[in-house]
Amino acid sequence: MNQERPTVLILGTSGEVGSMVYRELQSTEQYNLVGTYSKNPKPGLIPCNICNPECLKRTIGENKPSAILTFAGLAREKLCRDNPEETHAVNVVGVENIVRQAEIDNVSLLYPSTINTLTGYNNGEICTEDTKPLAKVDSVYGQSKIQAENIVKSSSLIFTIPRTDLVLNRNYGIAKLFKDNGLAKIMINGLRFPIYIKDYSEYLQLFINNPTKHTGIIHLFSQEFQNGSKLADVADTIIKRFNLAQDTIIIPNATEFIPRRNDYSPMPIYITPTANDNLPNFVFTSTRL
Ligand SMILES: NC(=O)c1ccc[n+]([C@@H]2O[C@H](COP(=O)([O-])OP(=O)(O)OC[C@H]3O[C@@H](n4cnc5c(N)ncnc54)[C@H](OP(=O)(O)O)[C@@H]3O)[C@@H](O)[C@H]2O)c1
Repeated sequence: MNQERPTVLILGTSGEVGSMVYRELQSTEQYNLVGTYSKNPKPGLIPCNICNPECLKRTIGENKPSAILTFAGLAREKLCRDNPEETHAVNVVGVENIVRQAEIDNVSLLYPSTINTLTGYNNGEICTEDTKPLAKVDSVYGQSKIQAENIVKSSSLIFTIPRTDLVLNRNYGIAKLFKDNGLAKIMINGLRFPIYIKDYSEYLQLFINNPTKHTGIIHLFSQEFQNGSKLADVADTIIKRFNLAQDTIIIPNATEFIPRRNDYSPMPIYITPTANDNLPNFVFTSTRL
């Protein structure tokens, strides 16, 4: 370990966003990274259950990070809805455990939040960082993220809470779905505000390198999506940008889905008959970019 480099603890490195962030930061060669898993061991990662305060105390005490980035949590709407108690235990109590230990050890904290804290706005409202969070009442995930945000905000920590929508990378999430299925299936075509993992990682580095300058909530999205982009247009952009296909073909009002025929054919983007009826329910904007 190079002692001159700051140590960064990344909780939840075995997950989608955590692993992407780990790789991005690793490629900069500027940090000593310590990554954790909970139930799914991965090479090079150490175990840490955020529901266990003793485990957090040990992990932070032994590694002495200057910053903690926590990507540990339940992050799928359906998973949270099906497991409300576990969602509370991990997404709320687990975050509180991290905050209390970080306060004791005086470590700055990055808590990644989500556009889902604002989905309760449904009349086209403009939501900036100053807008009061309002998740849909039935969104167990969104409600748990608001509770966790409040715990971080009312702590004595130097913290940042980036709120993001879709996080984009070639081999993850929505891009991976398109790649694996040979098509983009658009069921809801409302406005999205995605961020490329490279842009996300740049913000994380700003925070790690100078936490006091980047405290508070920030809405993050890549510049090209700053006015919001319909999901079908996002699909078109990322299929081309990540070279999943040279070209795309939009098939509106589709009821049947036939995947891409071969590597040389354009990637079909199917829009289901009801998708266009789903208007954006709020506008996600930033006062700081
Ligand atoms: N995906 C997005 O586009 C997006 C957008 C905005 C915000 N976020 C936020 O980013 C975070 C990560 O999202 P994701 O999509 O990467 O989720 P994910 O792929 O499901 O990963 C979740 C991570 O949390 C870990 N974890 C679960 N329970 C834990 C526990 N009790 N103790 C410690 N670690 C635990 C998992 O570890 P094991 O797998 O080893 O159990 C895994 O590493 C979430 O807080 C989410 O709200 C994500």
